[in-house]
Amino acid sequence: MAFIFPKILNISALALAVYFYLFTEICAAPVDNSVPKKKNIIFLVGDGLGPSGVTLARQYRQYSENLPFNDYLELDRHYIGTQGHRSNSSLITDSAAAGTALATGKKTYNKGISVDVNGKAIGAVGEALKLKGYTTGLVVTTSVADATPAVWFSHAKNRAYQDILTEQLVGETHPLGHIPSLIIGGGRGWFYGLDEGGLRPDNRSLIEEVQQNGTWNYIENREQFDALDEGKNVTLPLLGLFAEEDYPYRIDREDSEYPNLVEQTRVALNALSNATKDSDQGFFLLIESSRIDHAGHANDSPAHIQETLEYDDTIAEVLKFVKETDVDTVVVATADHETGGLVLKSTQPSHFAIISNATHSTEYLTKELIGFQEKNDTEALNEYIRGEIFTNGLGLYNITDDEVSRIAEYVEHGALTTGKESEIAVALSNLTSSRAGNLWGSTDHTSVDVGLYAFSNAPYLQQKVENIKSGLAGYHENIDFSVFIKSISDIDLDEVTEKIADIPLTR
Ligand SMILES: *[C@@H]1O[C@H](CO)[C@@H](O)[C@H](O)[C@H]1NC(C)=O
Ligand SMILES: *[C@@H]1O[C@H](CO)[C@@H](O)[C@H](O)[C@H]1NC(C)=O
Ligand SMILES: *[C@@H]1O[C@H](CO)[C@@H](O)[C@H](O)[C@H]1NC(C)=O
Ligand SMILES: *[C@@H]1O[C@H](CO)[C@@H](O)[C@H](O)[C@H]1NC(C)=O
Ligand SMILES: *[C@@H]1O[C@H](CO)[C@@H](O)[C@H](O)[C@H]1NC(C)=O
Ligand SMILES: *[C@@H]1O[C@H](CO)[C@@H](O)[C@H](O)[C@H]1NC(C)=O
Ligand SMILES: *[C@@H]1O[C@H](CO)[C@@H](O)[C@H](O)[C@H]1NC(C)=O
Ligand SMILES: *[C@@H]1O[C@H](CO)[C@@H](O)[C@H](O)[C@H]1NC(C)=O
Ligand SMILES: *[C@@H]1O[C@H](CO)[C@@H](O)[C@H](O)[C@H]1NC(C)=O
Ligand SMILES: [Zn+2]
Repeated sequence: MAFIFPKILNISALALAVYFYLFTEICAAPVDNSVPKKKNIIFLVGDGLGPSGVTLARQYRQYSENLPFNDYLELDRHYIGTQGHRSNSSLITDSAAAGTALATGKKTYNKGISVDVNGKAIGAVGEALKLKGYTTGLVVTTSVADATPAVWFSHAKNRAYQDILTEQLVGETHPLGHIPSLIIGGGRGWFYGLDEGGLRPDNRSLIEEVQQNGTWNYIENREQFDALDEGKNVTLPLLGLFAEEDYPYRIDREDSEYPNLVEQTRVALNALSNATKDSDQGFFLLIESSRIDHAGHANDSPAHIQETLEYDDTIAEVLKFVKETDVDTVVVATADHETGGLVLKSTQPSHFAIISNATHSTEYLTKELIGFQEKNDTEALNEYIRGEIFTNGLGLYNITDDEVSRIAEYVEHGALTTGKESEIAVALSNLTSSRAGNLWGSTDHTSVDVGLYAFSNAPYLQQKVENIKSGLAGYHENIDFSVFIKSISDIDLDEVTEKIADIPLTR
């Protein structure tokens, strides 16, 4: 008898548990999240931005703007985890393989643009979202057909085939038509021929064709950009090309000539949200701060910091939009890899004084130096290096003769051979970074994990984002991102793969 009572209790406890389980399941049903709701998805890439790059930008900003040690970057506020990014062919990925993994959920070889290891086209998130009714767009500060933007919307066996990637982006050779409806950035050269000073080997002019065909609204200067009225006066599809290839670095460029990444982003967010205000689905926007990577390759600390801070300002612009919109929006920011193996050794903020002295990138100063005409006149050359390059360019007043002759050796007496430009830029960069106390261990990408940042204005999406297993918190491989997108939308990457089987992948 003493045993029976507890037994009954157990059974009723079990029944109660089952009852509660069913009850909560049934009650939960009406708010089931698997029913697709209108959403916007914004993905940001700081190309080549590793953890030490974020720290350097934060420390520098605190120094230069006199902010306390606990002043955060916008990025810092949304830090959620880290991401690993090896490619199929190397522990060190390039942007093409890393982007492919983010966009398709599959690791591939370095240089592959949304193709598998066998070179076959595979469906990407941008395409899959478009098939589900999203309007998509991209804004970047490099060529719009460069690897990082290309992987979401187009395919090629090699990232070098930007000519065929542009044909796909404008929809000419893409089986699904144009995927992005808004394209803003550089890379104008890939839209017209070598014969006219462009970059296309086939000498076609896609710029003229899309205008004649009436398929795209094309703009290419500041005045036309301003007429977009921050995105309120945009007719999609819109193609805006503001540089032949890369944008100049932020430290070298004039906003009066080049709409910066924050401005591009504002236009894109307003135009895409306006275009989808009566649609069942929202938009997908890819934003890349493209040249953090290039500054890492050049070991250029001042340029790197300015690019990173522009990226951070862009995140702030996105956040402002997300707080105001009534559409559920999820924002994810990450990097494809780190570039430069940046090591931070400064112990005092005052070490950064030399960084704020720089007025130009070392890429820019290298071009100036190569353009100097009297290279055979050692005295004139040394004077030029000391005055124009070191003092006016880098803001360096404390210069040794040895430092001058080290740079002079690259160019004097016709010693300069093509391909030395990046070496000169690195040598110039070293003058600043050795004084500022940061070291660069590489002029290439490295395999260190990069930060993962995410936020949403919708509590249920924020909860998903913060889930360690199915969301983005904690450590993830780059292939997990598309799985996450699938969990919040109803995309079908395999369906895209089938539909794009015949897309041209080589020249
Ligand atoms: C690369 O891809 C091949 C073919 O799918 C696979 O067998 C191999 O395990 C992959 N290696 C890595 C490191 O991803
Ligand atoms: C423009 O239209 C012509 C005629 O239909 C077509 O052959 C060509 O592929 C189009 N060009 C582009 C860039 O879409
Ligand atoms: C394109 O123009 C370049 C430079 O004029 C020329 O060398 C090349 O042969 C042309 N290509 C084609 C396909 O006509
Ligand atoms: C809107 O854009 C058109 C060109 O597409 C331009 O003619 C017009 O002036 C613009 N309106 C405003 C208010 O900027
Ligand atoms: C939305 O677009 C329409 C038509 O292009 C335009 O008249 C309107 O001003 C835009 N509204 C906003 C808020 O951008
Ligand atoms: C930075 O520039 C200031 C003048 O603006 C100069 O006094 C200082 O010496 C420079 N720093 C170095 C390390 O050359
Ligand atoms: C001047 O530069 C040398 C390195 O060339 C450095 O050791 C020294 O501390 C610098 N002095 C100042 C005042 O910046
Ligand atoms: C001057 O420079 C040219 C290359 O720019 C080189 O070929 C030539 O030998 C140089 N002359 C002297 C006297 O160094
Ligand atoms: C960088 O600067 C340091 C300190 O002046 C020097 O020892 C080193 O050799 C330089 N490295 C390069 C690649 O120029
Ligand atoms: Zn790179």
